[in-house]
Amino acid sequence: MKVVITTVFLALLLSSAGLVHAANAERGQQLVEKGNCASCHGAGLKAPILPAYPKLAGQYPDYIFYALRAYQIGGSNPLFGRVNAIMSAQVQPFSTNDLQDIAEYISSLPGDFVVKK
Ligand code: HEC
Repeated sequence: MKVVITTVFLALLLSSAGLVHAANAERGQQLVEKGNCASCHGAGLKAPILPAYPKLAGQYPDYIFYALRAYQIGGSNPLFGRVNAIMSAQVQPFSTNDLQDIAEYISSLPGDFVVKK
């Protein structure tokens, strides 16, 4: 049952977020610079200042968007939300469209993630 509810919830989230907005990486760049994300995630968002801070550059945009939404939702939905005091504070000012733009920008950055074949 929980799985069904989660699936329906995620489908609704995606359809409400994704259909009307074409993500804009340039706008995403402005939001990332304004939000000063590099102060923790490092230069190019791929050189975190502490080992517990993840690299972001080059990550799939869907994954980044989901992660950011999950921090916004936080503990109010324990099945989907991510509870992290630092990142929850970072994402609160942004709209869903902002998060999509941010995700588009971050995924466009050259990173060092690899897919092994
Ligand atoms: C004060 C330090 C700090 C700042 C500033 C910061 N972050 Fe983070 N970020 C973190 C930490 C710490 C985590 C890991 C949290 C966890 O364990 O869930 C994280 C996690 C993330 C993740 C999840 C990555 C993954 O692989 O799941 C994303 C995406 C992210 N941050 C994006 C951003 C964006 C976009 C901004 C700017 C708006 C930003 N962060 C600003 C510290 C920061």
